[in-house]
Amino acid sequence: MSGGEIHRFRIWWRRRLGPERRATFSWLLAAVFVVLFLAAGSRIGDNVLSGPTATSSSSAPLVDLTIVHSAGAKGALCLDGSPPAYHLLRGFGSGSDKWLVHLEGGGWCQSLDSCSFRKSTPLGSSYYMERQVPFMGILSNIPSQNPDFYNWNKVKVRYCDGASFSGYRENEVQDGTKLFFRGQRIWETIMDELLQKGLANAKQALLTGCSAGGLATFIHCDDFQALLPNVATVKCFADGGFFLNEKDISGRRSIKSFYSNVVQLQEIDFQNVSLGRNHLRQCFFAEEIIKNVKTPFFILNPTYDFWQIQHILVPAESDPEHAWLRCKLNIGHCDSNQLKTLQGFRDAMLSSLSEFKQKKNGGMFINSCFVHCQSLYNQTWHSPNSPRINNKTIAEAVGDWFFDRKETKEIDCPYPCNPTCYHMNLSQLSKS
Ligand SMILES: *[C@@H]1O[C@H](CO)[C@@H](O)[C@H](O)[C@H]1NC(C)=O
Ligand SMILES: *[C@@H]1O[C@H](CO)[C@@H](O)[C@H](O)[C@H]1NC(C)=O
Ligand SMILES: *[C@@H]1O[C@H](CO)[C@@H](O)[C@H](O)[C@H]1NC(C)=O
Repeated sequence: MSGGEIHRFRIWWRRRLGPERRATFSWLLAAVFVVLFLAAGSRIGDNVLSGPTATSSSSAPLVDLTIVHSAGAKGALCLDGSPPAYHLLRGFGSGSDKWLVHLEGGGWCQSLDSCSFRKSTPLGSSYYMERQVPFMGILSNIPSQNPDFYNWNKVKVRYCDGASFSGYRENEVQDGTKLFFRGQRIWETIMDELLQKGLANAKQALLTGCSAGGLATFIHCDDFQALLPNVATVKCFADGGFFLNEKDISGRRSIKSFYSNVVQLQEIDFQNVSLGRNHLRQCFFAEEIIKNVKTPFFILNPTYDFWQIQHILVPAESDPEHAWLRCKLNIGHCDSNQLKTLQGFRDAMLSSLSEFKQKKNGGMFINSCFVHCQSLYNQTWHSPNSPRINNKTIAEAVGDWFFDRKETKEIDCPYPCNPTCYHMNLSQLSKS
């Protein structure tokens, strides 16, 4: 998609769609941005992504989609009733008995309308999923790009339920056609299949995921550990999944009511997700979930996570005059008051992490970049130009923690102090 096409597309969806469908669309757009900028091998200038170029990630392995046709019998269905799916890249050498399971992200749907909309996208139907995807960053099989996990068995579980693999509504919902909320069953069914494919005999295993998949990693971490009683080392690593329960700039608790809608619509039962039933149903926040997680956990999150700035701190409704538009697309365009607000958001994130920081087996890498999902792209995961804290890349930090090489609790200094940061410039693509 060129800049002009995206601009026309945006005008079209503003006119065409209500706020909820827009939320889904803005998610898909964010995904497109990230994929275009990072996966397409963009140029780096002053460590600011300066636009897509023609080069492609030709050396990244393309991994086939496996559709779990038998899943329907177990009630595991995408929103549209199609079977769920994953991509598996087999490990080799000393990695052949080690497993890394990545849960895909892609926002959430909170209403019948926005969930129905997903049925005609890969986020709601395996019918629309790409038949092959490149494995990069933590999924890469190239040692120089992924030093500790390159030869592991690696799985990317596709996200098509709209509720972080955790909803379960027994009856299909009639919305004109059919709609299913079966994320919890998708999780269980795909894990069963992977156990049979060798996960059960793993020597080491890591559950990971980004964004909504990062939240799913918090939710299912102890479930994952429980499935693997014979595996020596089981740990979990959430990337960009630490969504804050913060007020937006207009003082409203937008994200809290959004999550509350997701939980109610999709009947998320916290008994199945490591929390007691007496917990508030709104407890869909990582800060709450992590208090009860016993498995060793690593949190990677930028304090200026652009998805959180765009959807939690400054959702469209909170900024009717569009005063934040430029700043939301490029942190370099924020004025001094906006930066002050962003520093407040950073303080809130650090304060939400203070309890976790005391955990002995925990690891963290909390950097000051304007980005979202850093483990999936070699440029941010591990390369000569990657973001670093104390001269350590994210891949090195996660490896040090996983293999108990060193205690790893890295917290960056505030923006703009870190010259190694990788700041997304999303405005390039929204110009016509
Ligand atoms: C990222 O990896 C791909 C192939 O895996 C490669 O083509 C590209 O040049 C890499 N980019 C950087 C910045 O290392
Ligand atoms: C939730 O967990 C209970 C037991 O803890 C189980 O019986 C039930 O089937 C689970 N629900 C789903 C949707 O898997
Ligand atoms: C930072 O790490 C690299 C290796 O990743 C090393 O070559 C370099 O000397 C280190 N720099 C400092 C200042 O320690």
